[in-house]
Amino acid sequence: MEILALIEDHPVRLILSNPLGQYRKSEIRLVSGNPDFYQCAHYTEQQVFHVNFPVEKLHSFLMKEFSHFRQIDAWGTKYIWHFKRTKRDKLMVSKKINKEKTEVSAHNRPKEYILEEKTIVPALVDLKIMDEQGNVFPSRFAKFKQINRFLEMIEDVIEKEDQKSWNIVDFGCGKSYLTFIVYDYLTRIRGLDVTMTGLDLKADVISQCNLTASKYGYDKLQFKLGDIKNFVSDRDIDMVISLHACDVATDYALNQAIRWNAKIIMAVPCCHKELLHTGDFDGLAMIGAYGLSKERISALLTDNYRSAYLEKMGYSVDMLEMFDLSHSPKNILLRAVRTNRKQSQKSRDVIDQIESSFKVRLTLGRLLEDL
Ligand SMILES: C[S@@+](CC[C@H](N)C(=O)[O-])C[C@H]1O[C@@H](n2cnc3c(N)ncnc32)[C@H](O)[C@@H]1O
Repeated sequence: MEILALIEDHPVRLILSNPLGQYRKSEIRLVSGNPDFYQCAHYTEQQVFHVNFPVEKLHSFLMKEFSHFRQIDAWGTKYIWHFKRTKRDKLMVSKKINKEKTEVSAHNRPKEYILEEKTIVPALVDLKIMDEQGNVFPSRFAKFKQINRFLEMIEDVIEKEDQKSWNIVDFGCGKSYLTFIVYDYLTRIRGLDVTMTGLDLKADVISQCNLTASKYGYDKLQFKLGDIKNFVSDRDIDMVISLHACDVATDYALNQAIRWNAKIIMAVPCCHKELLHTGDFDGLAMIGAYGLSKERISALLTDNYRSAYLEKMGYSVDMLEMFDLSHSPKNILLRAVRTNRKQSQKSRDVIDQIESSFKVRLTLGRLLEDL
């Protein structure tokens, strides 16, 4: 009841302390935006992680969060609140008139990341993204931003799923910055039970990644050597991620994910060559007139084709910008979430128009021909 009264007082800041679990403290702030939202910062001994959520979710979020702490101090519009749960589970509540001017945080303040700068992540120190004090090396800042953005996009979808246990594959994991962070974030910070496999063609990076995983006790994270197209999983896969797998490697990743019926697919394609090199641009002068625009339009249409195929296979797809173009031109994330929706006419039209205009059937279309 008292917690509901606090919610009705429209708190702008809440601090949860006196911890029972892994977090030292959590701080929730109302952030002005369009619409306003709350942002919760979870503090562990060395790190801070952020989660955003809509204003109307404050009650359910707070109830869950309060199970990890004994105390809440909150600044509402009228009152300053103090909640304390005793060792015998009795809730003590007090409040006093708020005479302080408590301001809503502005959304346009310097960007906060899920993984903040100065947050020491041992795997990222090993991978030379940051030094031992948590300072991100200037030359690695773009990578740090990419990883954060990817985490934000994952967070956005998994927070809607009531699922504690996830089997994840990262196709074309390379040095595995992303793999380590996703695993670390989902297990240690989000408390989920995650089994994760990173796959790549490079033997040296795979053995190095396995060494790093065992060094940090990531016992459900393994790296395997192999080609995406031949990879066989010994368990059901819930999520497939793939960051910058080259050219049609993304199509093989999507094909596997679709056949596994993965709940979530997140792919940032790169090095789009197929349509550019095999499409017939005769009669499409407006596209083929200038090299650079031909390249960019081919890449965009390839991603439209992939998105349309994902929709055709029953996924709801968002095409999202990962970061601004000054960091990398490879910046479109295809985020697909499985639904029970039937294939739409729109997705069929996208596929038909691309295939008939360029007189080509792209890899993903060929791979999914039997479905
Ligand atoms: C540009 S790197 C990206 C690495 C990592 N995902 C990242 O973003 O930091 C692309 C990686 O995909 C791997 N790759 C490309 N084709 C592949 C395939 N068919 N099967 C497995 N890995 C592949 C390459 O070996 C390379 O390590």
